This record gives sequence, structure tokens and C-alpha cells, in this order.
Amino acid sequence: MPAWTSRSITDGAVRTVLVAGPLAGLVATGFVEGLGANPVEAVTRYLGRWALRLLLVTLALAPLARFAGTGRPLAWRRAAGLAAFGYACLHVATYAVFDLGLSPAAFFDDVAKRAYITLGAGAFLLLAGLAATSVRAVARRLSPGTWAAVHRAVFPAAVLAVLHHAFMLKTSLTPALFHGGILALLLALRAVPYRWSSRRT
Ligand code: HEM
Repeated sequence: MPAWTSRSITDGAVRTVLVAGPLAGLVATGFVEGLGANPVEAVTRYLGRWALRLLLVTLALAPLARFAGTGRPLAWRRAAGLAAFGYACLHVATYAVFDLGLSPAAFFDDVAKRAYITLGAGAFLLLAGLAATSVRAVARRLSPGTWAAVHRAVFPAAVLAVLHHAFMLKTSLTPALFHGGILALLLALRAVPYRWSSRRT
């Protein structure tokens, strides 16, 4: 039987918020305010935004661990990454079911003809590969070097997701620039030498 410590309870709470928080927010908004004149679009966009935010949170946890001088945030990375993929799945499923009536032909036509859908599909495929290799039974079969190399795909996945967002916008690019700026900062932080960022003495 696992021992309950304040640390394991906090870790569990963080993982639960990452996985269930955005969905709870969507249900609460739906009940309190409604989802507007076009609920399908509102839900698709909400889920897409959270998939991207959770992807950025996943990328932020390693620099956070370095700067805080503790490996603790690394314990939340798997949950954050899988939550990002989960919300991306719900995002794509909402679009495929309600916009395309589950037509594979319409889906592949969109992927071929609309640049922002092509970019989103690229991001989604990379995230699917990352999620598949995060399953513990699969991860155990990979050498640590191979696993690390595969998981570097999270960076191109995030770049494609930001571009998907930018190409989809019709009026202001500000929301995509905001997410793109955070991604650029996170990538730049990876270049900061460890000895300057650690609090260890
Ligand atoms: C096959 C894959 C994908 C498809 C077909 C797809 C489709 C869509 C569609 C139809 C929209 C709404 C466009 C509109 O209302 O005009 C959208 C928006 C969006 N998607 Fe995706 N998407 C895919 C993958 C992804 C992935 C992997 C992410 C993030 C990790 C993502 C993040 C977003 C974001 C952030 C928005 C904009 C939401 C907003 O602020 O309004 N999408 N996507």
C-alpha cells in the first residue's frame, strides 16, 4: 500500500488540476454563461487553446526545476504532456465529429488544402508519437538515449502548434504571438548554462 505523504498528495493534486482543471472550466462556463451562438466553434477553440497551453506548461517544467534547484516539477511533466495530448485529441475529435460529420475524405481534403489544418495535423502526429512512447511498458523497451531523442520532438510539435494557431487567425495575430513569445523564451532558457540557473551551491 502506498505511503501518503504531503509530497505525494501535492503531486497528485497538481496532476489532477493539469488533467481535469480545463475540462472542469469548460463545464462550469457552459453552465454559468453558456457557450455562445456557435457552441461547436467555442468548444473546439477552447480545447485547442488548452492543448497548446498544457504543451507550453510541459516545456516550462524543466527550466522551472533548474531555476528552483529542485527536481520536483519534473514529476509533473508526464501528466502535463499527456494532458496536452488528451486535450488535442478532444479538440480534433470535436472538429471531426461536429464540423466534418466524421468523414475521413473531408478530413484529408482539409489537411491537404488548408495550411493551418496541415500544421495542426503535423503537431498532432508528433504528440501522438510522444504519448505512445510515454506509456511505461513502451518507454521501458527504449534505451534512455532513444527515449530522450524521441521526446525532443516535443519542440517541433510546439512550433507547429503555434504556427497552426497563427495561420488560423483571421484578424489579429496577438494571441499566436503571445504563445509564440512564451515558446521562444522557453527555447532560449534551454541555452542558459546549468551553473548559472541552479541554486545549488
Ligand atoms: C489534425 C489536427 C488538428 C485539427 C484538424 C485542428 C483543427 C482546428 C480548428 C478547426 C480550429 C478552429 C478554427 C476556427 O474556428 O476558425 C483550431 C483552432 C486551434 N487549434 Fe487546432 N487542430 C488540430 C491540432 C491542434 C493541436 C495539436 C493543437 C495544440 C497542441 C491545436 C491548437 C489550436 C489552437 C490554439 C487553436 C486556436 C484557438 C483559439 O484561440 O481560438 N490544434 N484547430
